[in-house]
Amino acid sequence: MQNFSIQMKREGKKIGLVPTMGYLHDGHLSLVKIAKEKSDVAVVSIFVNPTQFGPSEDFNKYPRDEARDLELLKSLNVDAVFMPDSNEIYQFNYQTYVDVEEITKKQEGEFRPTHFKGVTTIVSILFNCVQPDVAVFGQKDAQQAAVINRMVNDLKFPVKIIIAPIIREPDGLAMSSRNVYLSIQERKDALILYRALKYGEKLIEGKEMNPQVIIDNMRIMISGIESARLDYIRIVNAYYFTEPDFIEGGNEYYILIACKIGKTRLIDNILVQV
Ligand code: PAF
Repeated sequence: MQNFSIQMKREGKKIGLVPTMGYLHDGHLSLVKIAKEKSDVAVVSIFVNPTQFGPSEDFNKYPRDEARDLELLKSLNVDAVFMPDSNEIYQFNYQTYVDVEEITKKQEGEFRPTHFKGVTTIVSILFNCVQPDVAVFGQKDAQQAAVINRMVNDLKFPVKIIIAPIIREPDGLAMSSRNVYLSIQERKDALILYRALKYGEKLIEGKEMNPQVIIDNMRIMISGIESARLDYIRIVNAYYFTEPDFIEGGNEYYILIACKIGKTRLIDNILVQV
């Protein structure tokens, strides 16, 4: 992979990377299209990264379909697919991790304490292997994107990070590889995430500036769905992921939600410009 990238750079070509864990959907494909627009050589990595899953999470049953992924990427004329083996990435006696401190502790970090350390470690490794000029991440994992931006700034990675909008199903459900776990009823119930986010957004547009009032109202809405078990709803500053006491004009905020529908944990968010 490095040799390929070095060769491309010698030829003066700009490399765009889309890191994925495979089981691709239209959300991933939208990232690939952006990478193609912003670079000369589009690389997609597929690697289900064990270090970002907690001990009781779904690493073993995480959906995989390499043949289908490769077909989809071929149809988009991707220049290279990087599919390393786990033993190649985390070789015997592997000991090195990248840990972004503050921004990883709250929201997702409260529920998945080792997750972001795994993400920043694998993304650093992928950046070293692929040596991209630009890398595209989805807004769906908004905190992940903010953590990666922090890491790139702090460690001076020579790569530009692009955050691409969330792609939703026609009924509003954010696309996610994990949606495949949902039963027919749960798939219907899962719409509550986006409905609650839209409701929160409407409250802010109606000048409700107290985050707690917005969160409480959204919470009540979600409590009406039997299969839903909320992990959190938070309103955060869109850059620092700090949780304000009051929403202030001239700022951008994410409303974040993490909720189990049956056994499937889903996350979603909406960006609100006040
Ligand atoms: O967003 C994902 O799919 C993963 O967290 C990533 C960025 C590919 C790292 O494994």
